[in-house]
Amino acid sequence: MQPTSAPNTNMVSPAFDSILDVAPYQTGKPIEELTREYEVQDVVKLASNESPMGCSPYVTLAITEQLGQLSRYPDNDGYELKQVLADFTQMPITAITLGNGSNDLLSMLARGFVSAQDAVVYSQYAFVMYGMVAKLQGAAAIEVPAQRFGHDLPAMLAAVKANANTKMVFIANPNNPTGTLLTHQALFDFVSALPSSVLVVLDEAYIEYSPESNNSSLLDDFDNVVIVRTFSKAYGLAGLRVGYALSSDAVATVLNRVRQPFNVNRLALAAARAALLDQDFIKRAYQNNKEQMRWLEKQFDALGLAFVRSSSNFIMVEITDALAIYHALLEQGVIVRPLVSYGLAGWLRVTVGLPEDNLRLIDTLSYILNNDSV
Ligand SMILES: Cc1ncc(COP(=O)(O)O)c(C=O)c1O
Repeated sequence: MQPTSAPNTNMVSPAFDSILDVAPYQTGKPIEELTREYEVQDVVKLASNESPMGCSPYVTLAITEQLGQLSRYPDNDGYELKQVLADFTQMPITAITLGNGSNDLLSMLARGFVSAQDAVVYSQYAFVMYGMVAKLQGAAAIEVPAQRFGHDLPAMLAAVKANANTKMVFIANPNNPTGTLLTHQALFDFVSALPSSVLVVLDEAYIEYSPESNNSSLLDDFDNVVIVRTFSKAYGLAGLRVGYALSSDAVATVLNRVRQPFNVNRLALAAARAALLDQDFIKRAYQNNKEQMRWLEKQFDALGLAFVRSSSNFIMVEITDALAIYHALLEQGVIVRPLVSYGLAGWLRVTVGLPEDNLRLIDTLSYILNNDSV
């Protein structure tokens, strides 16, 4: 037996040292966990940009119809969902790849296209998965400083030019956690200036909250653009895990080789199809978000708290002692998201909820701030 203090030289090493740089993905605190830890019953979760409206009632029906079929594998090609997606996006079925959530697609893209000799470029304060999937491939993860919390596209272009081995660029639009948005023209100019050997992954997870920012027309002009979307946010299916990518056929062919068989389950396929067909639900989600975002902005103004204007369903607010306030809110049954892991220690990210959720947040926050109880 080895003495415990000796380095264990027999440890199986990971494929790449960079894997050891990857911190496991931090999720928003689940409601069940808070209930267990703090014994609070009436919990409001505004931490993971989930839909506060649940999902379309047609989803329940679609899932119920599948319950007798659970012993059967799902359709590996997701044909029926892809057909509806093709109509909705005006893209051919061959351009669509389905994922077990859009995170699955982000990692499939890295696995399919990025090797340990390559570099991946993304922005500071951009969605945390981009650096993670690059490092898991052993690739160089190049984080470009943000400008006013958003992507600095000229600086990102310079980073690509300075690193001839750049294979992939990730852009979140709108960005999580900052909510910043890039214009179509800025994106068009950026992609135009890039070598066509660099794959640009445009992550539109929050597109339903800023429909004017739909950039799928880039796919008409550039074969090196991939758009990734999800059913986890406005469609309210986070618990089922479904996302999709739109790309050139050449990219989709690679993704389909990387993809695990049956990566989207039977209930998720049926639910996503029903959810997509109910665009009235999405209109209501958009309207609630727009009105409630405006209301939250007013309340933050009244509390003297700075925030970053957001094109999404969450908003980043600056608070002294953000982590202490986060814990004080937890004690009162309100879950928001601290942003320490993003290097934004003085900020909290709040998902826009229903009017009563937002009122509870603001009442609780005002109480905490006014009573100096942290
Ligand atoms: C920008 C962005 N992309 C992708 C995802 C992944 O979502 P999912 O895997 O649930 O589709 C998220 C989730 O928070 C996100 O914010």
